[in-house]
Formats: sequence, C-alpha cells, structure tokens
Amino acid sequence: MMELWGLQTSVMYISAICCAVVAGFDCCADGEYSDKNTANVSRSLDNLLKGYDKRLRPFYKQRGKPAMIGITMFVSAISSISEIDMSYTVDFYFRQFWTDPRLAFELDVDELCISNDMIEKIWRPDTFFANAKTSSFHDITNKNAFFRIKPSGDILLSLRLTVVAACNMDLRFFPMDTQLCTLEIESFGYKTVDIMYEWLDGPINSMGMSKAMALPQFTIYGYRLVERLEVLSTGNYSRLALEMLFVRSMGYYLIQIYVPSTLIVVLSWVSFWLSREAVPARVALGITTVLTMTTLISSTNAALPKISYLKSIDVYLVTCFLMVFTSLLEYAAVSYIGKQCQRKAKMELKDMFELGMPLIGNGLAYPATREQNLNDNVRVLQWFNAERKGKDKDSYTKRRTDSTDSSSSTDKDETDQQCGGTGRKNKPSDIDKFARVFFPSMFVVFSVIYWVTYLNISHSGIDNSFTRLQPPT
Ligand SMILES: *[C@@H]1O[C@H](CO)[C@@H](O)[C@H](O)[C@H]1NC(C)=O
Ligand SMILES: *[C@@H]1O[C@H](CO)[C@@H](O)[C@H](O)[C@H]1NC(C)=O
Repeated sequence: MMELWGLQTSVMYISAICCAVVAGFDCCADGEYSDKNTANVSRSLDNLLKGYDKRLRPFYKQRGKPAMIGITMFVSAISSISEIDMSYTVDFYFRQFWTDPRLAFELDVDELCISNDMIEKIWRPDTFFANAKTSSFHDITNKNAFFRIKPSGDILLSLRLTVVAACNMDLRFFPMDTQLCTLEIESFGYKTVDIMYEWLDGPINSMGMSKAMALPQFTIYGYRLVERLEVLSTGNYSRLALEMLFVRSMGYYLIQIYVPSTLIVVLSWVSFWLSREAVPARVALGITTVLTMTTLISSTNAALPKISYLKSIDVYLVTCFLMVFTSLLEYAAVSYIGKQCQRKAKMELKDMFELGMPLIGNGLAYPATREQNLNDNVRVLQWFNAERKGKDKDSYTKRRTDSTDSSSSTDKDETDQQCGGTGRKNKPSDIDKFARVFFPSMFVVFSVIYWVTYLNISHSGIDNSFTRLQPPT
C-alpha cells in the first residue's frame, strides 16, 4: 500500500515538472521575435506615436479622473548620514507604473521592453523629491533606466537614482538617539485632480531594501510608507513619503568618548591620595586631566553641527569636566589652607623669638595664649641649648615627643584641627580625606542617574508603526 502511494506521488511530481517545462517553453517562444514579428513591432510602435501628444497626461479628456501613478522602490544603499549637513544619501531603484490608454497596442506579446529613447517621446509624470538637496541619474554605461509597455498600455519606468535628501535631526539624545529620515515623492506641477500617487503594492511590500546594507553608525530599524495630501498655495498635491528610522549604535561613542572620559575623572582622584607637599605631581595631574577633558569635548563636537541645546553626550562630558576641574580646585584649597597654617606656625615661631625672651620675665604679654607660648618658648630654648651642646639633640627630641604626648597634647590637637593636620606633614588633610569619599560617590550617583534616564528616554521614538527590516542573515 505504502509503495503504491509512493509511486502515485512520484508520477504526480513528474507530470507537474513536465507541465512546468512545457509552459516555460511556451513563455520563451513568446519572447522570441522572428524577423517578420520585429517588423510588425516596429510598425506598431511607429503607429502608436502617430498623433500622440506627449504634452497631455493620460485620461486628459476624462475630467475628474486623475492619472494614478503607482510607485515601488528598492533601496540599494544608504550612506553618508551627516549630522553637520543634516542630510543622508540614498541610492535606489525608482519604479513608476501608470496606464496610458493611448499607448495600448495589439501584438501577441506580454510586454515590450523598449530602448530609453522612447521615454523621451511619451508623457511622463514630473515626479520630484521634495526634500532632495541634490539628485543624480547614473549614466554608466548607458542611462540607467528602462521602459516597459504592455499591450494594455500599462507602462513601467524604472530609474536608478542617487538622492542626497535633507533629514532634520534632533540631536538632544545624541549618541543614544534615533533619527527619522524621509524621502518625499511628489508631482512638481500636477495637482491632485491630474495626478495621484500611491504605493503600488500596499504600505509594506512597495519597498525593498538590500539585505547587505551596513551603515557605520546606524542600524535601520524599519520603514513606514505614507500617502498624504500636501496643501500648498498653488493647490493640493498628492505626496508619498518613505520614512526610515535609524537607530544610532553607540558602541563607537562608548569606546572613544565615554570610557576615556570616565577614566580621566578617575585619574583626577589619584591626586587625593598624593601627599599635599607633592605640588608638582598634584598640579600636573589636575591640569593634564582638565586639558584632556577640554580636548575630548572639542573633538566630540567638531563632527557635530553647532546646535545650541545640550546633547546627552554634553551632559556627560561637561559633568566629567566639572569633576576634574573641582578636583584641581580641591588641591588649590588644600594647598591654600596648608600655606595659611604654615604662615601661622611661622608667625608663632617669630612671636616666640620676639616675645619669648622677655616672656620668661613677664608672662603677661598674651594673656590668652600665655601658657602655650610659655610651653613653646621653653621647648625652643631647650632646642637651642641642645643645638649648642650638639650631643644632647637626641635626648631633646625624646623629651619633646614625651612632652607632646603628655603635657601639651591637647594644644597640639587643637592646632591640627584648625589647620587640617598641618602639624604632621605626612598626614593627609581633612579635605583630601573627605574628597576621597565624596568625589567617587558623587560620580557613581551621577552615572547611574545618567544612564538610567537617557537609555529610557532615548528610544521613545520607536513604535509599532514601522515595518521591521529582517536582520541580515
Ligand atoms: C503582422 O501584422 C499583421 C497585421 O498588421 C498580421 O496580419 C500578421 O499576422 C502579423 N504577423 C505576426 C507574425 O504577428
Ligand atoms: C485642498 O485641500 C483642503 C483640505 O483637504 C481643502 O479644504 C481645499 O478645498 C483643497 N483645495 C483645492 C484647490 O482643492
């Protein structure tokens, strides 16, 4: 039973293939013109154009019946999406279908594919691209256009065009933005009563795109085909629009800008762990990071138009710049306070020398700090003695530390607090200690808010009205 079924199906297949082959031969026979046939075709074409007025549109006599122009497109390449010029370049095959009953003929053929010269002799729609900046035909090796006509008078005119079209870009979310670029198709002179455009194969299939297309900075999310009415002072025009949604891939900006600027900010924090005495190191670090951020900001904006609003990349870079700048200022503050304390210490020492000697006699010169001065004076005198003796120095130091630890430790701490620990050189200043925690935590908080906010807002332009492109396989 099974075998019989198999036999039956194979017989069916073979007969189906035979039919297809026969049909194929039929088709081929249709396309081959014998000499006689050629003469017939030439004659009918001549007859067609006899009395044909190319100045008048099809259905001119039937008032109220506009010529319907069906459009299909195949986009072969999109390139040079330029933010500076606010434009993009699209390379495509543009096909216009319309019916001209005056060109109907009686020949036993499906359709005639005729030389381009014929195009010049018949009426054509004056289609133009409303948002084109420049457009060009391709002439190599011959004019890239073909013209087909069916016995019923159905005409197909296909052109290969390159159009540089304007695309108004909103860069507020740059580089996490999406851009909607359009190609507007309209008749230059014929109003809706004369010409109506339509997407021939409906709003999805009238458009094709090369699968091999790859843009350096964008991925094409999808497209939308729109038919609408354009109300102008000269009349109402039928307009078609191809809307393409580009989503920027931010990998480039992540690698070239976000990561380096983040690292520069981190680098500027190194300063907080360096000794406050390391003036050359800390100043150099601060200035280098500030300059690098400046360079990064200007190089980023060099490739962008001079727009006055803040882009999202600006928010990040300006914040990084401010972080780096404040860490430089932080060192300025540490250094200034350190200097003040040193000066204060010097003044005290000077006071001691000037007032110290008589102070031993009368302790009433500075009532408030008399005791401290007395203490210090005693210490200074001890030190002088030790210097003079030479040998006794070590013992003095020992004594001094002892006295710091025991008797005058409270005084010492007070001075330390006021001057942020100037007393001991290797101890970090309080401002540095604060900055070590404050700066990184501020930056982490900012980063989290930044990425969460922008990644949520930026792709809000994407909706379901777009026909998704199949990702290339
Ligand atoms: C050529 O055209 C004539 C009439 O114009 C017709 O009689 C003849 O059959 C045609 N020949 C072919 C091969 O179609
Ligand atoms: C153009 O269209 C508008 C809105 O549809 C309509 O009000 C107006 O009368 C039309 N103008 C012409 C000249 O057809």
